[in-house]
Amino acid sequence: MNRFTQFENKTIAETLIEKALEFKANPLKNNTKGQGKRLGLIFLNPSLRTRVSTQLAATNLGVDSFVLNMDKETWALEMQDGVLMNKNKVEHIKDAAAVLGGYFDMLAIRAFPTLTNKEEDTEDFTINQFIKYSGIPVISLESAIRHPLQSLADMVSIRESFQEKRKPKVVLTWAPHIKSIPHAVANSFSEWALGCGHDLTITHPVGYELDEQFTQGATIEYNQKKALEDADFVYVKNWSAFNPYGKILKVDENWLLKESKLANNQQAKIMHCLPVRRNLELSDEILDGNRSLVQTQAKNRIFAAQAVIDAMI
Ligand code: CP
Repeated sequence: MNRFTQFENKTIAETLIEKALEFKANPLKNNTKGQGKRLGLIFLNPSLRTRVSTQLAATNLGVDSFVLNMDKETWALEMQDGVLMNKNKVEHIKDAAAVLGGYFDMLAIRAFPTLTNKEEDTEDFTINQFIKYSGIPVISLESAIRHPLQSLADMVSIRESFQEKRKPKVVLTWAPHIKSIPHAVANSFSEWALGCGHDLTITHPVGYELDEQFTQGATIEYNQKKALEDADFVYVKNWSAFNPYGKILKVDENWLLKESKLANNQQAKIMHCLPVRRNLELSDEILDGNRSLVQTQAKNRIFAAQAVIDAMI
């Protein structure tokens, strides 16, 4: 594997899920495999889980990892090719990525969307500039449109929490928020859940339709109550509108997920990638109750990252 930026196919996903579960059972199983290898973790945006879990994963494999907060600690990067650099950007991505490619064996990059330039975000411009100019294997730590390490950890969490022979019914439900939030987690969760063969329903207010390239094969249900019936897993997430791009739309009904909405569904487990705004997206009672898988998901981020880094080594 020399790139991990999206769902590729079910065989690769199954291999990574099984590997992650092996590492969860025995984290130090391959603890010398990565000796002498160096992983650069490049953050253009904030992170808690992705940063720490990926570093822990690298440590478990004997890989040296280095974090660079490029948004704060290095020169301001010019991302566009062929421009006259006579303004505030100090270094070109072509030069910076090539330097990092010479320092490290693998690069992992977090690059959020602009949420204003739809064309640039949809083509995942920033992470693709790093891929183009670094010349080494790249792992996405969340790009403009996908968050594959999160989705892999989510698939691991569903796998270990569901023992029945049938497909799990998985519901992705939109939640309220006060800020304009990227689509990456929702896109990626949909891409991975469908790719892994789960029965996926997506529920959201009218106007919050996701980019169809990620939702082909899912049931779209605008009635949240109906969508939640018989769900085995409910993934709660806010996202801004895709059209008009990056906007927050007025929503009349309350989409906060709270226990009373699940009164007729005792089996449903609740998922969220975190960070979560309590009592805006998800109620305290759910987050602190037995249904919640959020801490399991966060823990599984280590083993998901470990499976990916192991495959790259
Ligand atoms: N879920 C997730 O990616 O968390 P961080 O933004 O804290 O890394």
